Amino acid sequence: MPKITVSDIIKYKNKQKITMLTCYDYAFACVLDEAGIDIILIGDSLANVVLGMAETRKIQFSEMLNHAKAVARGVKNSLVVADMPYVAFQKNPAKCVDFAKKFIDAGADAVKIEWFAQGEYVTKKLIKNKIPVMGHIGLTPQTAHLLGGFKVQGKNSESAARLIAQAKSLEDLGIFSLVLECIPLELGRVITKKIKIPTISCGAGKYCDGQVLVLYDLLGLYKKIRPRFARVYADLAAQVKKAAQDFSADVRMGNYPSPEESFSCKPKVK
Ligand code: KIV
Repeated sequence: MPKITVSDIIKYKNKQKITMLTCYDYAFACVLDEAGIDIILIGDSLANVVLGMAETRKIQFSEMLNHAKAVARGVKNSLVVADMPYVAFQKNPAKCVDFAKKFIDAGADAVKIEWFAQGEYVTKKLIKNKIPVMGHIGLTPQTAHLLGGFKVQGKNSESAARLIAQAKSLEDLGIFSLVLECIPLELGRVITKKIKIPTISCGAGKYCDGQVLVLYDLLGLYKKIRPRFARVYADLAAQVKKAAQDFSADVRMGNYPSPEESFSCKPKVK
């Protein structure tokens, strides 16, 4: 299979649905790549689901970069997108290109940025420096405190119009795709029709051009918050717990390790 490019993703619009999953390490990256996932996102949800932080805004760039490197090492075919953390563009818009280049050098093909007051300025700067950008509007977790919390966005006509305007503006600036998070499916449909680049739904309904989920939600590994749209495809937490309990029981009962799992040497050791 050839490597998926940014232009492939753009061409998928109206032809095939796009699949995207978050990923944070080498082992899962190998599996998702083999599974044929179109886009692998090193999401800043890393802060919550892997590092146990309360807010994505708390994650440092160096932490994101380490995980981006690990994921990129495991991917051969999928498009790799790195999420720009809050510190790398919202806190420091003038330095966004330097940070984004570090992700590209680490093996990412593109970066994702959440909408904020200077979102257009940052997008323009990145694209001018030939860094492909995926946009992200609607419920943007990095600035959720300014949006009334983790709530569905675009529910009234004023807020819907604002999101449509953001989508159009980002498209005009040259982003290659757009994540729509937690908006009504009707608005997801309207935005998807109004722009020529693919939309990727994260709780924005079935009319979008693609769907994204947080890997740890899909695998049932992160149960602290369960968004309504996050379908759980496996209960890995239960499987991991059972494996750990079985291991403990074997060790305590002397059933592990067996002779086959042990090394021996010819002369008897006294
Ligand atoms: O960080 C993340 O996981 C994300 C996706 C949910 C889109 O931004």
